[in-house]
Amino acid sequence: MIQLDITDDSSVKAALEKIVLEKGRIDVLVNNAGYGLFGAFEDLSLDEIKAQFETNFFGVIRVTQHVLPIMRTRQNGGGIIVNVSSINGLVPFPVISAYCGTKFAIEGLSESIAYELEPFGIKVILIEPGPIGSNFMKGSVLPKRALDPQSPYSELVQKFTVKTRLQHENAIQPEEVAKTIVQAISTEKPEFRYLVGKFAVSLLEARKNMPFSEFQKMITQSVTQ
Ligand SMILES: NC(=O)c1ccc[n+]([C@@H]2O[C@H](COP(=O)([O-])OP(=O)(O)OC[C@H]3O[C@@H](n4cnc5c(N)ncnc54)[C@H](OP(=O)(O)O)[C@@H]3O)[C@@H](O)[C@H]2O)c1
Repeated sequence: MIQLDITDDSSVKAALEKIVLEKGRIDVLVNNAGYGLFGAFEDLSLDEIKAQFETNFFGVIRVTQHVLPIMRTRQNGGGIIVNVSSINGLVPFPVISAYCGTKFAIEGLSESIAYELEPFGIKVILIEPGPIGSNFMKGSVLPKRALDPQSPYSELVQKFTVKTRLQHENAIQPEEVAKTIVQAISTEKPEFRYLVGKFAVSLLEARKNMPFSEFQKMITQSVTQ
């Protein structure tokens, strides 16, 4: 294992140089690093939102832009880029607007570069899990202001956070996501998108099949009850 901070150019460069020096090539890049930022949009500072994008979105860009020339110019060319998005990259929830923004951005970026990279034999794959019982909740940022009882959103944020914690305690295990990634990169013709877990599948189904007003009611009820 090599230490790597995806928000730091020199750290990314050094890690990739080490890999290329030792192995001579990179076959697969899994952009997995990320964290959650909780709080009502109005209560989040621009700096908190920028930091969220710096890791979840620009981190992916930084590492991918360094890896692409290595994959593109290798003998026989090609490689696989796996971007770990989220069901919230397709279906947003309240209280995690900035997080959803980063994952929607990953979705758009991935689909766009898939066209550009296909002629070079580089595949792009999106992984879209529902809640996972990882360290995600521990690693998430919940700014003080977002929990301030004076905030007009404090009740919503509190209820959503409690619900989300519970949901993560009873969620699928990270191994299930890892298995999906291994399966995707081992297949000759992988899908472009992989939803992981029943929650993600049924949420997307509901979003597609219900008028938005009804869907919004359902999500609001599930968050606030
Ligand atoms: N958990 C969920 O419910 C869920 C659902 C859908 C999608 N996802 C996505 O799944 C991915 C993995 O999250 P997780 O659930 O496994 O959460 P996690 O247990 O908190 O793992 C996050 C990982 O990201 C790494 N990381 C954070 N900032 C980094 C940086 N600047 N440079 C390098 N590594 C960094 C962390 O490394 P350190 O431990 O060294 O800090 C940690 O290994 C994320 O992209 C997340 O958005 C999670």
